[in-house]
Amino acid sequence: MSLSLWTHCRLATLQADTTPAYGLIGDGALVVDGTQLAWVGPRRDLPAALRKRCSAQHDCGGALVTPGLIDCHTHLVYGGDRAHEFEARLHGASYQEIARRGGGINATVQATRAATPEALTAQSTVRLKHLLAEGVTTVEIKSGYGLALAQEHKCLQVARALGRSHPVDVRTTFLGAHAVPPEFAGRADDYVDAVLAMLPRLHEAGLVDAVDAFCESIAFSPAQVARVFEAARALGLPVKLHAEQLSDSGGATLAAAHGALSCDHLEWLSAAGASAMAAAGTVAVLLPGAYYFLRETKLPPVDLLRHHHVPIAIATDCNPGSSPCTSLLLMLNMACTLFRLTPEEALAGVTRHAAQALGLPDRGVLAAGQRADFVLWDVHSPAQLCYALGANPCVQTVFNGQPR
Ligand code: NIG
Ligand code: FE
Repeated sequence: MSLSLWTHCRLATLQADTTPAYGLIGDGALVVDGTQLAWVGPRRDLPAALRKRCSAQHDCGGALVTPGLIDCHTHLVYGGDRAHEFEARLHGASYQEIARRGGGINATVQATRAATPEALTAQSTVRLKHLLAEGVTTVEIKSGYGLALAQEHKCLQVARALGRSHPVDVRTTFLGAHAVPPEFAGRADDYVDAVLAMLPRLHEAGLVDAVDAFCESIAFSPAQVARVFEAARALGLPVKLHAEQLSDSGGATLAAAHGALSCDHLEWLSAAGASAMAAAGTVAVLLPGAYYFLRETKLPPVDLLRHHHVPIAIATDCNPGSSPCTSLLLMLNMACTLFRLTPEEALAGVTRHAAQALGLPDRGVLAAGQRADFVLWDVHSPAQLCYALGANPCVQTVFNGQPR
């Protein structure tokens, strides 16, 4: 296999706990061997023997190079939109009221069930392309707008197929416990039984990389979520949780007890929840798009997470109800302006810590042995990626060793 050399770049390796910040290397070089990084470091340290083996050379034109971005929490595959609910909220209705009236997630369930796989693919492709244009190389996509076996199967298959038809790694998460669908209204426990019946079938079909649930007064109780988690763990599947978004339900403590990869949202996270997450190595995925779009006022307890050394990831939460967002760069800015993350924390949140939130140790930093997923940016400093609003300085993305 031939090697290729990438030079004339600054590298933000995003390796943990490095000095200088961001793992910055001023005059860097990368050697790609097939789909992997074979060598990463200052150009002057590149061994001559390795340089000689490089048959292709790429001049990065002075670009900043980061790991490929990872959007570790999306609901990208859905039918319809909810602009009418956005409008209703501007006339005074709340997100919870709309959900209780049968709108909200269930409005999207209706539109998603009515959509053909082709129609779902077409509208989801538009969203995926926005993410890819900003250097995303791994994206997690949740189900949860089908809420019946054939419908969840359809959505997960569309998600998987998007990963085959585009240069991006798609990780699929089964979110059957997202809402109680109308045919189970008032019978949440019966619906959880149905979720438990769907899970092994979808797993057998190879459609499930992880299992998620929505723990909230308008969704599922901790006891109901625990049943889903037990079933997932029995199949050897990792779990994650929409936890403490609108209230403190104790979801984070429950998820940590099941060794969850991540707890997501977390505006109402308690000190006990944070310390349980720290002990379990659970990542905190913060979703500034949903906080912004729902005009929440309760900030996630970032200082508490820092105090407990809980790794923080950032994602778009791309979905039609609470975060109709397809820009991970905008989320970097919002993580800094709204949540007061430092740009270095925010960038680790869409690289190293996002990889951890998906249980993927082979990506998220620039280092030998990692996947060759990286992005060239026309910026001088990593902070510029967080600072601008609406700019896209992505010059080139390399996915799995191939420029795309
Ligand atoms: O992450 N919190 C639950 N699920 C989504 C919202 C889904 C919707 O409103 O359609 C979220 O915010
Ligand atoms: Fe979500």
